Amino acid sequence: MYKTTFPKQFPDDFLWGGATAANQVEGAWNVDGKGLTTAEVVRKTTDRKHMSMDDVDKESIQAALADKSAADYPKRRGVDFYHHYKEDIKLFAEMGFKVYRFSIAWSRIFPNGDDAQPNEAGLAFYEKVIDELAKYDIKPLVTLSHYEMPIALTLRQNGWLSRDTIKAFNHFTETVFKRFKGKVPYWLTFNEINTGTWGFHATGVLDSHETRAKQLQMRYQALHHQFVASAIATKQLREIDPKAKMGCMLARMQTYPGTPNPVDVRAAQLEDDKNLFFTDVQARGEYPEYMNRYFAENKIEIKMAADDEAILAKYPVDFISFSYYMTTVTKADEGEQVNGNMATGGRNPYLQESDWGWQIDPIGLRVTLDEMWDRYRKPLFVVENGLGAVDQLTSDGKVHDDYRIDYLRQHIQQMKEATEDGVQLMGYTMWGPIDLISFSTSEMSKRYGFIYVDQDDQGKGSLDRIKKDSFYWYKKVIASNGEDLTD
Ligand code: BG6
Repeated sequence: MYKTTFPKQFPDDFLWGGATAANQVEGAWNVDGKGLTTAEVVRKTTDRKHMSMDDVDKESIQAALADKSAADYPKRRGVDFYHHYKEDIKLFAEMGFKVYRFSIAWSRIFPNGDDAQPNEAGLAFYEKVIDELAKYDIKPLVTLSHYEMPIALTLRQNGWLSRDTIKAFNHFTETVFKRFKGKVPYWLTFNEINTGTWGFHATGVLDSHETRAKQLQMRYQALHHQFVASAIATKQLREIDPKAKMGCMLARMQTYPGTPNPVDVRAAQLEDDKNLFFTDVQARGEYPEYMNRYFAENKIEIKMAADDEAILAKYPVDFISFSYYMTTVTKADEGEQVNGNMATGGRNPYLQESDWGWQIDPIGLRVTLDEMWDRYRKPLFVVENGLGAVDQLTSDGKVHDDYRIDYLRQHIQQMKEATEDGVQLMGYTMWGPIDLISFSTSEMSKRYGFIYVDQDDQGKGSLDRIKKDSFYWYKKVIASNGEDLTD
């Protein structure tokens, strides 16, 4: 039987909002007992094509620890959300946010990652943020690990390479689930978990001096520990706060075959599988066969404890979230590479690029949503999407960011197409509703926000918050539940 009706609108309870991460907005890196994180030992870079975060080694960390200023480490200062959270949340509320995605910095709660007792000042800060959101009826969507693990765990046990990190992380997750029980309806375990295959920033594993083969071995092992920790966190959440939902989070990077040549089609299929592998494990609860074959062929051996597979099978996530910025092209013989979200990929001649070389592909978002819905049949959530651009503040204190409005409009249009295709989509949290420190380059001048923050790359500025044109536009989008996308 064919259905003759299909949804023509976003559902009434669609969660519109924005997303940030502690290390990119909070600042206050050395107050109220907070420990340093992996994000705060990476120097800023002026080279947009080279992300310095993956050259980190023991020496660079020691140098960072000895440096007590934020000058070269902008993630230490963020945009001082720590002291501006009331003002910022009020602005989010003015836009009509239904949800705000933010992360809890593990090192605010456990400064060394595995302290016996939590730091009350850290818990109190997030409690104030959550209570402030509740005043405006904005639901929290909390990421438990957004590229900011306590640096003490890297120095002591090489981050997620150690199985002991599972225990430390799950002590942290249990602590926050208990403290915020009934107040946080949606949680995510690891931000863009797949980027753990790219290096230090996601796993805290120091391996920049290892061979590529050894790096892959170490990274997939660390990721296995994250899978187990994520499943244990899901178990804890079901026991502590059964109404809350747990999601996984992937940097989804759809790749297209470079040509119709079957060898390119097959190369693209393998690339895509290696991206979706993470969601396969977290949503379906097992390692897929294609990946077991890839591991065997590449001599990668994942060490598992006796009950790991049972835990993964028993505690898959409730919903699937992902970031979407770009697509890539894959050819069996690689071809010309473009820059991208911490990765490189093949150039697509049909797409335009952002100033940072990220290929802009709104239709790709529909393709992604349709394919992921077919593959998983679990609710989907777009928890990051946005445009990093250089904004100009005019003399009358305005920012005319029509390019950002265009970018977002086209992506929202394609999300709507996907809902009409039948995809169950829970919400959309645009990345960086307020200007923040870029993750990959630590620049301030790569701005994403609806709200301009008066701060430059050197950290100078009043930190005043200024509404851009896109602020008023997004407000209208939310008020019309995605129907009115006009300027
Ligand atoms: C995602 C990350 O990869 O992309 C965010 O989850 C990051 O932390 C965002 O900020 C945009 O990347 P960038 O490098 O422009 O800040």
